[in-house]
Amino acid sequence: MTPIPPVDLSRQYAQIEEEATAAALAVLRSGYYVGGEAVHEFERRFGEWIGTEWSVGCNSGTDALYLALRAGGVGPGDEVITSAFTFFATAETISIAGAKPVFIDIDPQTFNLDLDLLESAVTSRTKAIMPVHLFGQPLDMTRLMAAARKYDLLVIEDCAQATGAQWDGRYVGAWGDMGAFSFFPTKNLGACGDGGAVTLNDESQTQTLRMLREHGSRQRYCHETLGLNSRLDALQAAILSVKLRYLTDWNRQRREAAQRYHKLLGDLPDVILPQETPGGAHVWNQYTVRVPGGADRRDRVREILRDKGVIAMVYYPLPLHRQPVYESLGYGEGSLPKTERVCWEVLSLPIFPGITEGEQEQVALALKAALKF
Ligand SMILES: Cc1ncc(COP(=O)(O)O)c(C=O)c1O
Repeated sequence: MTPIPPVDLSRQYAQIEEEATAAALAVLRSGYYVGGEAVHEFERRFGEWIGTEWSVGCNSGTDALYLALRAGGVGPGDEVITSAFTFFATAETISIAGAKPVFIDIDPQTFNLDLDLLESAVTSRTKAIMPVHLFGQPLDMTRLMAAARKYDLLVIEDCAQATGAQWDGRYVGAWGDMGAFSFFPTKNLGACGDGGAVTLNDESQTQTLRMLREHGSRQRYCHETLGLNSRLDALQAAILSVKLRYLTDWNRQRREAAQRYHKLLGDLPDVILPQETPGGAHVWNQYTVRVPGGADRRDRVREILRDKGVIAMVYYPLPLHRQPVYESLGYGEGSLPKTERVCWEVLSLPIFPGITEGEQEQVALALKAALKF
């Protein structure tokens, strides 16, 4: 039996092979490999698609977060409120920018920030909020923006896992001051390598982002600040422009696959299924269930699934506030109890455009059998 992988990108590629190959060949033949028309074209299309005036391509989602923080003026002495239940880059970039991540607990139903806890975390040093639309589930941006405006805080959305998700009919990345996207291959819009972008409506910040991604230089060999080499490759941009045309359909396929899991797993008493927040359109970068009973039980279920040919993943086993590098921030065990509990329970099942009904049935059968142990 062929194992069912967490994600199968070869199926996606098979669908676009002709167009992607033609686009890549055009770049190879052009002789312009960094910057140039393919990058401008993708930046224009992506901003238009998200619904912002500009999008600025860069090397990765990590760089998109970091560059957005810098362009927003976040630096030493500032605090940035965010989630501890996310990929490390969310907090890492805050720290590298010189600011301090301030973690608040999550709502275990949505895996996103618990907005009831937001206002009490605001101090005189708070400069920004970095909400994460985790697993493709959009956060309630109406509520978050109202709080941000009340305290005059910058909002940088971490949209790495949620390209195409909407809150109240508007795409994530078009709500905050800036949206940071990852085009890592497994993301909803994934390149054939690393890539990222920042979406925004402010012209001056757009100029700053372009300067920062070019070693702090607006004019060649004149450096007004420290930046990065963080450009989006022309090859990746050309492939992303092709893939962008398919994104709505791929996200629809993810939504359908999630509905199918809801039905297949709905009668399982021993597992908590993910739910879509009313008002949001989830794009299911992950379909993450919770297996109560502690990390050992969850890990055992995962092993049994693997023995039955189903590769499930644990995103994330250790929350950011408990990472060794953040020990000095002083978050003790139990300081974010919901985040910690969720880390022991989560299990992400295979989901990707092109997953078949048969494969999902096999996943469901395997999970039912695994839960009996
Ligand atoms: C929530 C989140 N933020 C940021 C990133 C960083 O993106 P990249 O891997 O493109 O640097 C990721 C990537 O996994 C992510 O999942």
